[in-house]
Amino acid sequence: MTDHKLWQTASSEIFWYQSPTKLLDANRPPFYRWFPDGVTNACFNALDIHVQNGRGDQLALIYDSPVTGARSTFTYAELLNTVARFAGVLASLGVTTGDRVLVYMPMVAESVVTMLACARLGAIHSVVFGGFASNELAVRIDDATPKVIVSASCGIEPARIVAYKPLLDKALKLATHQPKHCVILQRPQHAAALISERDVDWATAVKNANTVGCVPVAANHPLYILYTSGTTGQPKGVVRDTGGSIVSLKRSMSQIYGVEPGDVFWAASDVGWVVGHSYIVYGPLFNGNTTIIYEGKPVGTPDAGAFWRVISEHRVNVLFTAPTAFRAIKKEDPTGSLIKHYDLSNLKALFLAGERCDPDTLHWAEEKLGVPVIDHWWQTETGWPICSNCLGDGMIPVVPGSPARPVAGYDVQVLQENGTPAATGEIGALVVKNPLPPGTFTTLWNADERFERAYFMTYPGYYETGDAGFIDENGYVFVMARTDDVINVAGHRLSTGAIEEVLTAHSDVAECAVIGVFDTMKGQLPLGLLVLNNDVARSDQVVVAEVIQKVRDEIGPVAAFRLCAIVERLPKTRSGKILRGTMRSIADGKPWKMPATIDEPAILDEITKVLIELGFAEQTV
Ligand code: COA
Ligand code: AMP
Repeated sequence: MTDHKLWQTASSEIFWYQSPTKLLDANRPPFYRWFPDGVTNACFNALDIHVQNGRGDQLALIYDSPVTGARSTFTYAELLNTVARFAGVLASLGVTTGDRVLVYMPMVAESVVTMLACARLGAIHSVVFGGFASNELAVRIDDATPKVIVSASCGIEPARIVAYKPLLDKALKLATHQPKHCVILQRPQHAAALISERDVDWATAVKNANTVGCVPVAANHPLYILYTSGTTGQPKGVVRDTGGSIVSLKRSMSQIYGVEPGDVFWAASDVGWVVGHSYIVYGPLFNGNTTIIYEGKPVGTPDAGAFWRVISEHRVNVLFTAPTAFRAIKKEDPTGSLIKHYDLSNLKALFLAGERCDPDTLHWAEEKLGVPVIDHWWQTETGWPICSNCLGDGMIPVVPGSPARPVAGYDVQVLQENGTPAATGEIGALVVKNPLPPGTFTTLWNADERFERAYFMTYPGYYETGDAGFIDENGYVFVMARTDDVINVAGHRLSTGAIEEVLTAHSDVAECAVIGVFDTMKGQLPLGLLVLNNDVARSDQVVVAEVIQKVRDEIGPVAAFRLCAIVERLPKTRSGKILRGTMRSIADGKPWKMPATIDEPAILDEITKVLIELGFAEQTV
């Protein structure tokens, strides 16, 4: 099928108030606009349509929280009513089409309700992951300038209660922009102090609210902004539009994930990441599936059988998570002994994404679960998979280490640095020929110029994914590494540049470098090397402890920044560029060449010694 026909057919399968007469507006590359004159609403396609079509009594959402012991369910009719009422709360606070609503919430049903309520009004939500600290939250508040912020009194991590409200209050002290109101969900585990005038109690507001209907919006109206790490401390506000999201996500549910309406689909991720947006909230609901919001971990809540318990209790048909979750389970229960206590007979496939899937994890999951295990590759920017073995289209053989072939709609190529095509099997930049398909990002919030510069300038006519890899003789794509400063820690995308900015801001630090080093569990971990000012009298340990705490306070615990050491000097080229790539290879025990342009080769010996002391680089000596 041509792309034209493909998207025409897919677009005819969703609800439009006004069907698009034009498929693609390509007048202003790379600002392509799909379905430019269509009018629709994402909440209508997620909820109302299913109730109208007789699916009202089917479960839409299951909330399962091993950290609190709570469970609740919503049928499509119940979820519609709850969302319409919360949309009424937002409307009463002055939220209208195009206003931004920032969401800083744990994994509770109310976070899904908030996102859908925004979509109902045509308001643009921006969900910030709960593991980010106040400073990161403040940066996002100032960029998105929300009229309202929706948050909760606390989140619950297995070992501690995370009081979100003080983090939010601190962020609002740091931010220039101030929202008109904050709606706070009070949780029984920890109550928050509310600030009168500004803060609104969720439960009271809902009690007094009217339900409101869907607001028809243009297909290209932004559905949401989702901030993701770039090469600098300033995150990129990925914007996705309404029509493209509905069409692409609905289609991906049947084509890629092979689920039918009524099936139970579980993405074990967080609503703060793209996986949560696309496959906890929108995709499954557009497709009439039952989705699960799980407030727990793969291990420790209470044990490594947690995923199997959820799969059997809720009759999950397809599970989606990151390989790191399976590595965590495998570490605690290497033989998979806990699996036999649960009935996994409904499970028909496991999809893995978010980081490179190592063959060991793939094989372990295949062997223990006895279902297809599918590695697929995508990004916050694309919103849905670029490459995947497609369950709905009929699977092709699994090749460990490869997320299979490009999904229909993506023309993936490998280019050399000079922009010429790489040979089969040759590593180069992974790019996608323009235009990107519907549902991919349409711009960066407030940053059209950065959108063009960061993604479309290096290889004119192509989207630069930021990943390097190759395509083999059978058309299988292999994604090997990032070409920029982005690292992947437990499936969470982080910027080493952002961590460096925090370290450099410490008064004792003269300069620093942060690299991503290999970790058997989390895939990668950030490691910082600091050069201190000459006049620092305090001990190295004190400074290291302070900078570790500083990263935790300013970026958040999710950065998992614990590896840090002080060095005399950093290795640099004669032009002053820090040799991060060489240090990364040394740390990971990979072969490396002495760079011809290095200023002082002896520094690398000193660095190697420090890396060995931190538990890395053993294989290079
Ligand atoms: N709110 C507040 N803090 C959070 C948080 C949240 N929503 N999510 C994580 N954190 C904290 C954790 O408590 C931890 O804090 P600590 O340093 O005090 O221990 C820190 O951030 C790091 O979290 P994480 O990277 O998740 O590590 P972990 O050791 O708690 O768990 C895994 C490791 C592998 C079990 C977990 O990362 C996981 O399940 N990952 C796979 C699924 C996934 O979410 N992938 C993302 C995209 S698909
Ligand atoms: P995020 O935007 O957080 O989803 O992270 C996207 C990045 O994660 C990609 O650019 C890749 O570097 C990495 N990634 C995601 N899925 C895969 C995969 N299946 N194989 C290899 N890398 C992946």
